[in-house]
Amino acid sequence: MGDARLLRRAREVEDFTSGELAMLAQRMFACMEASGGIGLAAPQIGVDLRVVVLGGVRSERYPDAPDVPRRVLVNPEIELLPGAEESGWEGCLSVPGLRGWVPRATALRLRARDVEGAVIELEASGFHARVIQHECDHLDGILYPMRMSDMSRFGFADLIG
Ligand code: NI
Repeated sequence: MGDARLLRRAREVEDFTSGELAMLAQRMFACMEASGGIGLAAPQIGVDLRVVVLGGVRSERYPDAPDVPRRVLVNPEIELLPGAEESGWEGCLSVPGLRGWVPRATALRLRARDVEGAVIELEASGFHARVIQHECDHLDGILYPMRMSDMSRFGFADLIG
């Protein structure tokens, strides 16, 4: 947090043929898993592209969280579905050691590409929808503290929640 690369709109991926996307995704999964995260966006490792990886292994940082399917999302577009908002705890590998209570839409529709350019369309709700919103926010230069409304619920992970 504070690095200008986390505060800009990342570039669309245009080339699905080079194999570089698959390599980037592998690097991102490795980084995410090494840090016990449940999602990672390319700008978090300094790569200016609209690429997100999600899920796959049960996260040590979110032991009680439901499973999030392992996926690579390229150029994701989110449509929030009308209805309730729900707040929940979030952390971020780019905001180490901290947690915040963040309001999010409970359901969304997602359209993205995979690393080969095939279209992915899905609906997600609850924690899965939260993780997608958090990671896709990174592609627009938004960190979760910027989504918070109650800063009294922002603090060190071992003291709060
Ligand atoms: Ni994050």
